[in-house]
Amino acid sequence: MAEILAAGEALERALALLQGGDIVAIPTETVYGLAGDATNGIGVARIFEAKGRPRFNPLIAHVAGMDMAERIAVFDPLSRRLAQAFWPGPLTLVLPQRPGNGIHPLVTAGLDTIALRMPRGFGGGLIAKLGRPLAAPSANSSGRISATTAQAVAADLGARIKLVVDGGATPVGLESTIVKAEGEKLRLLRPGGIAAEEIEAAVGMGLLRGDAAGVEAPGMLASHYAPDAAVRLNAKTVGEGEALLAFGGQRAEGWRHAAAFRNLSASGDLREAASNLFAYMQELDRSGARTIAVETIPFDGLGEAINDRLSRAAAPRDNTQPTT
Ligand code: TXA
Ligand code: MG
Repeated sequence: MAEILAAGEALERALALLQGGDIVAIPTETVYGLAGDATNGIGVARIFEAKGRPRFNPLIAHVAGMDMAERIAVFDPLSRRLAQAFWPGPLTLVLPQRPGNGIHPLVTAGLDTIALRMPRGFGGGLIAKLGRPLAAPSANSSGRISATTAQAVAADLGARIKLVVDGGATPVGLESTIVKAEGEKLRLLRPGGIAAEEIEAAVGMGLLRGDAAGVEAPGMLASHYAPDAAVRLNAKTVGEGEALLAFGGQRAEGWRHAAAFRNLSASGDLREAASNLFAYMQELDRSGARTIAVETIPFDGLGEAINDRLSRAAAPRDNTQPTT
């Protein structure tokens, strides 16, 4: 079983594991990440193996500073502006790779672009000390709900990894927002922990939506974030044996009979809802309910990312290849 060490005491142990080509689960401000040295092919392969990822989809490389980022990728002015505005923070930029950057090709699945992010908290210090970027997908088995606590990581991956660094519940609770500059425009590849509106305000223009050329963020396949229970969206009623994931002051008919009940945010605060989403999905799933009924969540601000994750959790499970 993985050892769980408090963030304040884990730096040396985490460093030693990473330097030896091993992997470590670490807290970030978004969700827990399963980290390996992005320049070490064995370490990166261990990430895919531990997650049981069916295919080698590209990972985000996490950096500790702008100098490290510029050694790995080529920044256009728009992307640099976003990095200045939102790093460290829940924003991932997809950029052309700088040749000879030492990043193992498994990280990028052979693409000539790379997804970069500068995380807040424990990860930043760890990367700086290691002196190398960390490849880190969310620390969950492939296709499952992302982990927002060290305990959730240990319950899922504990038998396959040696160390979980415990930094408490992750404050944002949703994965990073992923954007990519396309000429003078920006495309939203994955809604996430920074609302699209915030990015639009920072750059003074609207974001392009949808994928220009097929699936741009290959991890964005339909069935994903799947609990064992079925998921039913926009629920106005609660059926026999169903659990209810509520939001704000709505109350689906029959809610008192729900097999289990959680309210993402009683006050209707989307930021609070985002931070509770994955943990509450897991808790409702553990109740053994056959279906999780979910009340309507507004689409503004972080609601876009919350609805994105919920619709993936609700997608049909067969004939799909969950990937991250
Ligand atoms: O908040 C987060 O982003 C968390 C924490 C741990 O940093 N990480 C995370 O990683 O969510 P992961 O592997 O679960 O999701 C990474 C996403 C996938 O959808 C992947 O397809 C996309 O990033 N991606 C990675 N490299 C890409 C690239 N070069 N072009 C387009 N999409 C890319
Ligand atoms: Mg993931």
